[in-house]
Order: sequence, then structure tokens, then C-alpha cells
Amino acid sequence: MARSVVILGTQWGDEGKGKIVDLLAHDADAVVRFQGGHNAGHTLVVDGRKTVLHLIPSGILTDRARCLVGNGVVVAPDALLGEIAGLESAGIEVKGRLGLSSACPVILACHEALDRAREKARGKKAIGTTGRGIGPVYEDKASRHGIRLADLADPARLADKLGGVLDYHNFLLRHYYEAEPLDVARVADDAARQGEALKPMLCDVTDELHTLRRQGRALLFEGAQGALLDIDHGTYPFVTSSNTTVGGVMTGAGVGPGDIDYVLGITKAYTTRVGSGPFPTELDDENGRRMAERGVEFGATTGRPRRCGWLDAVALRRMVRINGVTGLCLTKLDVLDGFASVKVCVDYEGVDAFPLGAEEWARARPVYETIPGWEGDTRGITDAADLPSGARAYLDRIETLVEAPIHMLSTGPEREANVIFQHPYG
Ligand code: IMP
Repeated sequence: MARSVVILGTQWGDEGKGKIVDLLAHDADAVVRFQGGHNAGHTLVVDGRKTVLHLIPSGILTDRARCLVGNGVVVAPDALLGEIAGLESAGIEVKGRLGLSSACPVILACHEALDRAREKARGKKAIGTTGRGIGPVYEDKASRHGIRLADLADPARLADKLGGVLDYHNFLLRHYYEAEPLDVARVADDAARQGEALKPMLCDVTDELHTLRRQGRALLFEGAQGALLDIDHGTYPFVTSSNTTVGGVMTGAGVGPGDIDYVLGITKAYTTRVGSGPFPTELDDENGRRMAERGVEFGATTGRPRRCGWLDAVALRRMVRINGVTGLCLTKLDVLDGFASVKVCVDYEGVDAFPLGAEEWARARPVYETIPGWEGDTRGITDAADLPSGARAYLDRIETLVEAPIHMLSTGPEREANVIFQHPYG
């Protein structure tokens, strides 16, 4: 029986992870974020009420799970404090249940300013980032001059480090990007206030996880974004700046491969993408517009319309392999209800190997297999016996093409709207 489950997106994010994390969190003693930052947007609908979480693990909406933010997550203090305040004003206890790794890199105002300045400078080649400072803060981490939460919470350390970082960023902003520099005193004041507020939640996430694991407790690792946005394995350079694939769990939370019992890959029944970059199965036609409309495809963080297209089984199979996916959860199948036929990409023309960079991706043209549509409504069903046979045939074909079993189906935004063939926790 699995005690430790990883949930991650297998496409370009927005697969519907938040809802599944919320569902499985009821079986978990701790829910852990391990990468990304407040660029993520996890939409949850509980008792008809919609909540969008960006940084706090989705387990916060259960009444008992400990919620942990691992060292791989980049933290924007004011965004986090705002999220905490919002939840607490809705009567949800957060501060006593949330633990933040002291090693988390901190997003400062200069990271956001740099993110925006860079995107502007890229012009037509812009990545379409969320503008949250994600790239620049991970750069600071890698270049070893980043500010971490532990620094923020210690005024002497903060004073020692912050000036140098801001000098460097202000130089770039002013002289390279010809953008407005930041007011150093103001950033320093903000940082000191934020450190004070977050200090009580700082902890050793790795140690907590190992203790829980030794006690046989159930852990849930909550991925953000999707595998195709991974900095190494995604559609580089149109990616985010963290490892969204399973390796990120180990580096971003401090556990070993043996501490993972099950990997649940969340996959939309079709494909969407926000921001720029390769998307071989993208549709610019009535089918794509129908998916966008029925699937309400707008980014949870930026509100941008999502690009839509058919399911890409080639990319999906690759992501299944990279992540060692145990089982898939297919979401939003109901969006395809009523289509006369649906297509699945089964091969790429124009490339002789799986594309590794934007140039190769640009040459990849989808080869489709057409599958008949199905009569009937899959929306809200909870019993596999109610699945129309055509929908069942679509699922069977996906399993064969991507070489992974579908263990769950999400059939609507509500917590209860699922078909569970095999529960990840057994
Ligand atoms: P960044 O993570 O803000 O640097 O953005 C890099 C790319 O990742 C852009 O294409 C974003 O649209 C995309 N991205 C970042 N976070 C998410 C997410 O949570 N869902 C979907 N796409 C995302």
C-alpha cells in the first residue's frame, strides 16, 4: 500500500492537479510543495465555493493535513501572507499548520521587475512568463547570491546580504534593460517586515518528512506547472525555471527515491498551454474554440486564455517515462462529450527523435489517429459503469499509446466528481 504519493502534471500545467491534491489530501498526513512558486494557480471547488491557491499546498482545505513548503519552492512573502490572510478570513486555520523550509529562496521586488523587463526586451520572442519573478529568483539561487527565508528572518544576515543583491539587480535594471531601479530602503523595510511575519512558520521540512515517513504516515507531494514546462525536459526555452518532473521532489523536499511509492500523472483529456512556445497539436479552429469554451480555459494565475489542442500521446508517453508514472488521472473528459470524433497525436513527422529544443519542436508535425466520439454525458459520473462505451474506448487507446494505466478520472470540478479505478493510497 502506497504511503507516499507524488502528484504532477504531465502536460503544460493546468491539468487540474489542485482538485486531485485536495481529494487525496484527505488521506494524507502532510501535503508538500517542492518546486515553483506563486506562478502556480490551483483552483479548488469545495461546497460550491471556488478557491485559487498559488503557494499554500492544496491540503490546507482539509482539516488535518500538515502543509509544507520545501526548499525547492521560491517564496514571494507578500503573496504568501496575502494568501494566508485570505484563507484565515474565511475561517481556515493556516499559520499553525503551515511549515516553510528556511532554505526557500525569496522572491524580491527586483526579481519581478527583472522578469518583466526581460520579457519586454525579448519582444516577439517573449516566453510569456507569469511575471512573478520566477526565472530571476532561480537564477540567483544557482548563482549562489540568493536571499533565503532564513536570511529574511534574521535582521543581521539580511542587512549583510541584501545590499549586494539589490545593487547588482538595480545595475542590470538601469543599465542593461533601461528600466526603473528599485528603492533599496523600501525593499529592505519590506523584507524585514516579511521576515518577522514568516519566522514562526520556518522549519526543517526534510526532517519533518523523514519523521513522518518513519512513523508510517501518508505523504502527498504536490507538483506545480507540468512536466513539459520542466527546465531540463520541457520545451526549452519556453519552460519555467524549476524541475517540475519527479526529480524535483527529491531535490526540492529532501527525500530519496525510495520515499516515493506512487506517482500520479494528471493529464487533461485534450491539451492546453498558456504562454508562448511549441504546441504541435494546437488547434486554431472550431474544435479548439469549443474546448476553450466548454473547458473554461483561462489561466488561474494570470487569467490569460489557454491555447487548446488534441491530446498528444507522443509527448505524454515521454513524460510518463521521465516521471516513472504509476497511474494516470485523466481530467475534463466531459469537455469532449458530443464531439463527432476526437483525434490523438500518435507520432511526429519532421523529426527523427523526440524534440529536445524549440527548434526541433518547431519541426514536429502531428500524425493523428481519429477515434469516434461518444453519445452521452460523462460530466459528474462517479461509477465506471456509467461511462459511454465510446469514452471507454478512448481511455483504452490512451492507455495503450502512453503505456500507463488510467487509475482515476475527474469528471467535473467538484470534489466528489471522480471515477476511481485504483486509489493511489490503495
Ligand atoms: P514562469 O514560470 O512565470 O517563468 O513562466 C514560464 C512559462 O511557464 C510560461 O509559459 C508560463 O505561462 C508557464 N507557467 C508558469 N506557471 C504555470 C502554471 O501554473 N500553469 C501553466 N503554465 C504555467
